[in-house]
Amino acid sequence: AAASLQQVCEPSAYSDDESADHMDWDNLGFGLTPADYMYTMKCSNDYFEKGRLSRYGKIELSPSSGVLNYGQGLFEGMKAYRKEDGQLILFRPDQNATRLQTGAERMCMPSPSIDQFIDAVKQTALANKRWVPPPGKGSLYIRPLLVGSGPILGLAPAPEYTFLVFASPVGNYFKEGLAPLNLYVEDEFHRATPGGAGGVKAISNYAPVLKAISRAKNRGFSDVLYLDSVNKKNLEEVSSCNIFILKGNIISTPATSGTILAGITRKSIIEIASDYGFQVEERTIPVDELLEADEVFCTGTAVVVAPVGSITYRGKRIEFKTGAQSVCRELYSTLVGIQTGLIKDNKGWTFEI
Ligand code: COI
Repeated sequence: AAASLQQVCEPSAYSDDESADHMDWDNLGFGLTPADYMYTMKCSNDYFEKGRLSRYGKIELSPSSGVLNYGQGLFEGMKAYRKEDGQLILFRPDQNATRLQTGAERMCMPSPSIDQFIDAVKQTALANKRWVPPPGKGSLYIRPLLVGSGPILGLAPAPEYTFLVFASPVGNYFKEGLAPLNLYVEDEFHRATPGGAGGVKAISNYAPVLKAISRAKNRGFSDVLYLDSVNKKNLEEVSSCNIFILKGNIISTPATSGTILAGITRKSIIEIASDYGFQVEERTIPVDELLEADEVFCTGTAVVVAPVGSITYRGKRIEFKTGAQSVCRELYSTLVGIQTGLIKDNKGWTFEI
């Protein structure tokens, strides 16, 4: 099995498919362009068997699988960047591995070890190397999934699990590109509730916000900013990313008290901003504070660090500073510099493969 994994990683394995060579790297959005290989590792009786790479393609799933019937599943999002010298860089893969473990515990699933997770991601990135966009053009988005794939009828943990990793080259997440987002504060639909699973990357957290997103998009907004479901007045997060506000020298973001996803970009931006001398606060942020904010921005793996130009709440539009001189732009440049290898990583965040 080791030899066949090796073979699949050799460039010669790619010769039957030229499509990556015809990619328009200048016009990548966040659409799916499946890269050649995916990685699969199955688990039964709490034991993950040796994983393997195979061509990207359909998977067989029992109609009665835990994930299809009861949503027992988690996902992760990561990116590999290509450096000028051809090396690939992964960003804090250990953090994704740990977050998957935390989520798995919440969703009653076994999880791969940190080493198994990192090895799977590394193999997937290397096998799909030609799908990693040239420097400055984007990244290879890597999507690990952990799902209850075994059959179950009564509501209980599935008897078998599948850990799967696939990848796709991507550019900017929002159609706005790097232009400021216009967010809509949603006060009817909520993303998470205390005691729920909002704090982990459960697949079941995402479909319920589609309705709010589509309603906001139909009204011309980029995305939705959710409020807490108890008081309906404190900021939570945006559908696919965390939120930060800046006022003077203070940068604030909602505390991860169970309903907020513990974003790895969020955590990294907190550290970078602190290094720059900002006072960073993780706390409850009443929506009214938006009225006073100088800047607002979103963070996420897919989103990176995105400026927010306006937020509309109960018919009132509040505008924020954006542009080349903004703190958001400075944080974005530092983060992306580290992620792409242009800025020396003295934090041990990057992982060259
Ligand atoms: C990511 O940023 O990687 C995410 O998982 C968000 C997803 C909705 C694209």
